[in-house]
Amino acid sequence: MKKIYLAGGCFWGVQHFFSKVDGVKKALCGYANGRGVNPSYEQVYTDTTGFAETVEVSYDPQRIELEEIANLFFSIIDPLSVNRQGHDQGTRYRTGLYYTDPADRAVLSSVYLKEEQRAGQPLAVELEELRNFFPAEERHQDYLEKHPQGYCHLPLKTFAYVRLYQDIKLILDGEPDSIARMAQTAALIKERLGFFWVGFYRVEADTLVLGPFQGPQACFRIRKGKGVCGTAWQEDRTVVVPDVEQFPGHIACSSLSRSEIVVPVHGADGQVSVVLDIDSTELETFDPTDARWLEKIVHVLNT
Ligand code: SME
Repeated sequence: MKKIYLAGGCFWGVQHFFSKVDGVKKALCGYANGRGVNPSYEQVYTDTTGFAETVEVSYDPQRIELEEIANLFFSIIDPLSVNRQGHDQGTRYRTGLYYTDPADRAVLSSVYLKEEQRAGQPLAVELEELRNFFPAEERHQDYLEKHPQGYCHLPLKTFAYVRLYQDIKLILDGEPDSIARMAQTAALIKERLGFFWVGFYRVEADTLVLGPFQGPQACFRIRKGKGVCGTAWQEDRTVVVPDVEQFPGHIACSSLSRSEIVVPVHGADGQVSVVLDIDSTELETFDPTDARWLEKIVHVLNT
């Protein structure tokens, strides 16, 4: 069993998240890298002790790699925000990765650098050796299990996405056929998240051609640069459309679709080979949380 210490804002949500990760044996709320011994929540709350709300993640390295844990950590924080995550503000809510095994530093650094490149600016996340850690009071442990309606700074869909992401990885493992992998992925997303239409369009020369999908019948072909799908392909970026009527050139395969997200999928050559398209009958269904997790999910398709 190995341990890594993660400060990602309010520890209630961070603990709840990591307790859902396969290979994580235990997630424990506590206070790390401050002055003094065994602080109380009230002392830490004064924001004068230097302690950060931190989760001790105990994991089985045979089942999950530290690199994956660090990637998951970055998917639930705003790494540019200084002393603030969600609504919570103060040095106790700073973000950090704290290790006890010096050999872990290289792994964490490489994930950190990739995130920094992605952000295009220095991160506000600490990467340091753990100096101290004290478990938090019992009432803070498994808080969101005890209080399902309780405060959580993480969007609730995060918890559905992390399960979905892990299950897709597990289920696709060992199946090499790309059509079968797309079909299964579309089914899993539709079943778990219940969107109106979930499917793939494949790049064929200068056109996207309909691939495996779940939902009502759809357009067969979309030209490069046309509609939301063709735009995501041409510009090689995730496109979130809060209201399809406001998107110039939107292609209405169904009049019931009101908001949409399209995520490009890259082939071995780094070019866009497929796009994932998800439609909703509600306005403003998709936001940066969906974009982040769906990008992680389509990455699994090619690994
Ligand atoms: N609305 C998409 C076309 C595909 S359907 O939504 C399934 C677009 O504008 O690209």
